[in-house]
Amino acid sequence: MTVGFAVCGSHCTFSQMFPAMEELAKHHTVIPIFSQAAASTDTRFGSAQEHLQRAEAICGCAPILTVAQAEPIGPKKLLDALVIAPCTGNTLAKLAHSIADSPVTMAAKSHLRNGRPILIGVSTNDALAGAAENIGKLLGRRHYYFIPFGQDDPYNKPTSMVADFTKLMPALEAALEGRQLQPILP
Ligand SMILES: Cc1cc2nc3c(=O)[nH]c(=O)nc-3n(C[C@H](O)[C@H](O)[C@H](O)COP(=O)(O)O)c2cc1C
Repeated sequence: MTVGFAVCGSHCTFSQMFPAMEELAKHHTVIPIFSQAAASTDTRFGSAQEHLQRAEAICGCAPILTVAQAEPIGPKKLLDALVIAPCTGNTLAKLAHSIADSPVTMAAKSHLRNGRPILIGVSTNDALAGAAENIGKLLGRRHYYFIPFGQDDPYNKPTSMVADFTKLMPALEAALEGRQLQPILP
């Protein structure tokens, strides 16, 4: 199987994301895709260049970084599945409204025309506030599946939710069979 692995600008989650990417790459061909925020922002969680290089080393190919590079995913049927993890509140909003103005959202739009699964790994501080309706929209939309997720720090960040990256592999296997891995919430 060939799996796209799209990374959005939830920089604090990269340390959980990379082990999941490594695990996935042991079983499948993985094509990394980075949003502009993920590909260009240096933060206390590491430099953008380090992250791009790490993804390339894991996957054995350079990440897709532009809308134009993402566009052929659909027409060429490049992916069996697309993982978007971490998926920011920003990208959730775009996906929920079919906006395709970034490498990640274009990859999703292009891939969806083949009727193949997209697996979302939520990571946003407003998951139980402004982003809740977007998560809800995608929960009910065909071809979208979720890595099980939950509140990561309910008392200090009461509206934040993050996917459990250790469940990425079983969630992907289920999605490829047209099933949502349960329980979605712990
Ligand atoms: C250090 C840092 C951490 C961030 N963490 C998150 C996060 O966990 N979740 C989120 O939704 N946005 C987070 N953001 C904001 C996003 O990076 C920002 O909304 C960006 O425009 C997202 O673009 P993208 O969805 O195309 O990756 C963070 C920003 C910075 C600078």
